This record gives sequence, C-alpha cells and structure tokens, in this order.
Amino acid sequence: MSTEPDAPARTCVALILAAGEGTRMKSATPKVLHHVAGRSMLGHVLAGVAAAGADRVAVVVGPGRDDVAAEARAIAPAARVFVQTERLGTAHAVLAAREAIAAGCDDLLVVFADTPLIEPATFRAMRAGLAAGASVVALGFEAADPAGYGRLLVENGDLVAIREHKDASEAERRVTLCNAGLMAIDGREALAILGGIGRANAQNEYYLTDAVSVARGRGARAAVVVAPETEVMGVNDRLQLAAAEAQMQKRLRARAMREGVTMIAPETVFLSHDTRLGRDVLIEPNVYFGPGVTVADGAVIHASSHLVECEVGAGVSIGPFARLRPGASIGAKAKIGNFVEVKASKIGEGAAVSHLTYIGDSIVGARANIGAGTITCNYDGFDKARTIIGEGAFVGSNSALVAPVTIGAGAYVGSGSVITKDVTPGALAVARGRQFEKAGWADAFRKSREGKPKKRV
Ligand code: UD1
Ligand code: CA
Repeated sequence: MSTEPDAPARTCVALILAAGEGTRMKSATPKVLHHVAGRSMLGHVLAGVAAAGADRVAVVVGPGRDDVAAEARAIAPAARVFVQTERLGTAHAVLAAREAIAAGCDDLLVVFADTPLIEPATFRAMRAGLAAGASVVALGFEAADPAGYGRLLVENGDLVAIREHKDASEAERRVTLCNAGLMAIDGREALAILGGIGRANAQNEYYLTDAVSVARGRGARAAVVVAPETEVMGVNDRLQLAAAEAQMQKRLRARAMREGVTMIAPETVFLSHDTRLGRDVLIEPNVYFGPGVTVADGAVIHASSHLVECEVGAGVSIGPFARLRPGASIGAKAKIGNFVEVKASKIGEGAAVSHLTYIGDSIVGARANIGAGTITCNYDGFDKARTIIGEGAFVGSNSALVAPVTIGAGAYVGSGSVITKDVTPGALAVARGRQFEKAGWADAFRKSREGKPKKRV
C-alpha cells in the first residue's frame, strides 16, 4: 500500500459550444439535437465530459434556442446555459460563459457540440496535458484532406501556434496536423488568455485557436494531444451525420463483441448508445436496437427484428421479424416468434408467443401458450385496456381477446374465439359460430348449375 497522500483531484469545468447555426443540415431541428446512435450529439458530448470527470458543465447556445437548452438540462440537470447573442467567433462564444469560467477551476475543457465521437479517454489526456504543466492543450489529428482546418504549428515538440486555413501561408497549408477545435485551458489563466485574443484575421473573428499564441506570449507552454481523425470528426451536414453514425456503430458493435456478444453480420446490426447486451447473446443479421434495450445472457435475437425500450430475459428467443415496442418485458426462456409485436406487456417465464400475434397492455403468465394469429384488442379508439392471461393458459389460434379481459390460469380458449368475458381458471371457453353440415348440398348445387356458362370476370 502506498503511504503517499493522494494528489488532490483537479477540478474541471466543461464548456460546450452549441451555438452553431447548422444551416447545412437543412433542418427544422438545430444541428446539435440531431441524433447519433439514438442520442443527440449534444447528449453524447455531455456524457463524454461527465465520464472524463467534469465537475461543472456550461453550455453556450444561440439566441432563442430553448430547445437546445432544454436538452442540455434534460441530460445534465446541473448544466448552466449561456446565450451567445452575436456570432463573433469561437473565443467570443467561450466568453459568453465568462461567469462559469470566473467561478474558477483547474481545467477548462472547451468542446464543440457537433463533434460527438470524442472518447472520454481523449478528454482525460487533454486534462493530463494541463496537469503536466501546459497552459493550453489543443486536440490534433492527421487530416486526410486538411483543407479548411486550422493547422497546428509545432516546433521542437512545442505547439507554437494554430493557423486558420484562411490565414495560413502556402508553407503552413502543407501541414497535415490539424486542429480538431477542442481545447483544454488552465482554468486559473483562462480569462487572462481569452481576454488577450483579438480579431485581426481574415474572418475578423475572435479565434479560440489564438489562445496558443497568447499563452506563449505570457511565457506559458502549449501542447498537442493527437487523436484519430475518425474520433474528431465534426458534423455539418447530413452526409457527415451519417458518417458519424457509421463510426459510432462500429464502436458500439466492437464493444458488444468484446464483451461476449456474437454478431453474424455486425455491419447490419444497429445499436443505441445505451444498448445493454449480456454474455453469449447471439444477434442475427439486420437487427435494430432503439434506445433503452436490455438483453440478458444467452438470448438470441433472430434476423430482422426491431427492439425499442424493452427488456429481454435470459435465454429468450426473439424473431425472426419480431417487434418489441416500449414497455415490452420478456421473461427468461420465453419465445417471441415471427411477425409478433409486443407493446407495454410482461411476458412470463417460458411463455410462447410463436407466430403472427399482437400483445399490447397485457400480462401473460409463465408457460402460457398464445396461438398463431392471436390479437389482444386493447384499444377502442379512446382508451387502452388490459388483458391478463394466467399461468399455463392456452389460447387457440386466431383468437381475439377483447380487453379488458382475463383468461384464468390453465384455461383453454378455443381457436377462432372472440373473447369478451373473463374465462374461469381451468375452463374451456369457445366463442365462435357452431359448425353444422347439410349432407349432399354441394353436389346438388353443382347439378342445378349444369350447362350454364361460368363468368370469368
Ligand atoms: C474551428 C477551428 C479550426 C478547426 C475546426 C475543426 C477556430 C477559430 N477554428 O474552425 O482551427 O480546424 O474548428 O472543425 O476555432 N461557434 C460558436 N460561436 C461562434 C463561432 C463558432 O458557438 O461565434 C461554434 C460553432 O457552432 C461550432 C464551433 O464553435 O460548433 C466551431 O466553429 P466553426 O465556425 O465551425 O469553426 P471552424 O471555422 O470550423
Ligand atoms: Ca466547423
């Protein structure tokens, strides 16, 4: 055991710039509220800085963007929201949150809300750069096509300046190490550094990137943390949104497989940021997981199934072609077969709903068997009503269970029944027309038509 006292933890304020206009999205929704893997880009960034140990969060939004502010508060209730009233550049946007910076911290982490793929480890590496003595840490990447990006000018291992593309010389434009935009700044020096930034540049803007030269002018050091280009990717239009989605999916699939999930064709499986998959879960091709899905150990999700906000128990078999909607909870070893839809219902352990069925607002007891084509009629156009099916009950094929209704434990429902009254435990209920016969009727009918032409159309 170490006898050294723990180093005091460094405090961190994360400042998220979400004032982007996002006009290239061509959308009624602000850019940072567009989703990647089932969560807004702003949500990803908020989660990322929280995982990197940010103690406080400030979000800078554009004027009138209550929707962005509301999303920030929904995900990080303690977040403070500031409005940048004029767009005068990234350093100006940071200073819109002056109060949050003035409150003091060791590490100020400035993050763009349209850069959703940054890993918490990268934020931590930037903070570590500050702890190691730099006053400014920029995040860099080797750009396949550097055009348009700020260039990181490094001399003898030190970051000496960031030059915006529009302000760069020919020689500087040949540099491929580019600025991702995010920055970590020593919290105690931040206001002095930011206050020293002017707007004498090609765009007449206050550039956050000038924090590097200002800090060096004060005798401080600047450093670079380098990340893969796929991680620092920003989103400005729908094509880049799709590229970010693809990248995030790769990451989520890899994480799931590393944790013991088998995917036969991982590139066809779509996960959400919060999908939880147990060990030895097998996922066949073309499966979609919306937000809020948990799948326990050993379950199999057969091809072409769609799951959102639901729970799948251990050893369960789902699909192929099954749809689990919000509030579906499938007990261990149960079976949900092809063309079955389940909504807001609890399916008991070992129950089987094998084919062509709708179960909504229901409770299905353990080991019950629901025949093909069964429908719980839960809606009368105004209200939803519940169906309760007891343990071990057997519902014959093509039955309509008109809710509210209860099928007692162990009871049978005859095929083709329309059940409108409760069924007593252990009983058989049949609710359909009785079968009768007229002997010879068919032959007599044909005979009466003999010699007449048959209409074809
Ligand atoms: C910025 C960097 C550039 C980097 C690039 C990476 C600066 C000066 N330049 O350039 O070095 O290579 O990102 O993509 O920082 N924003 C505001 N208010 C403003 C201006 C911007 O909130 O007044 C927000 C934007 O919404 C966006 C972010 O800051 O989320 C970056 O601004 P943008 O204008 O896109 O900067 P770039 O020119 O791309
Ligand atoms: Ca940009």
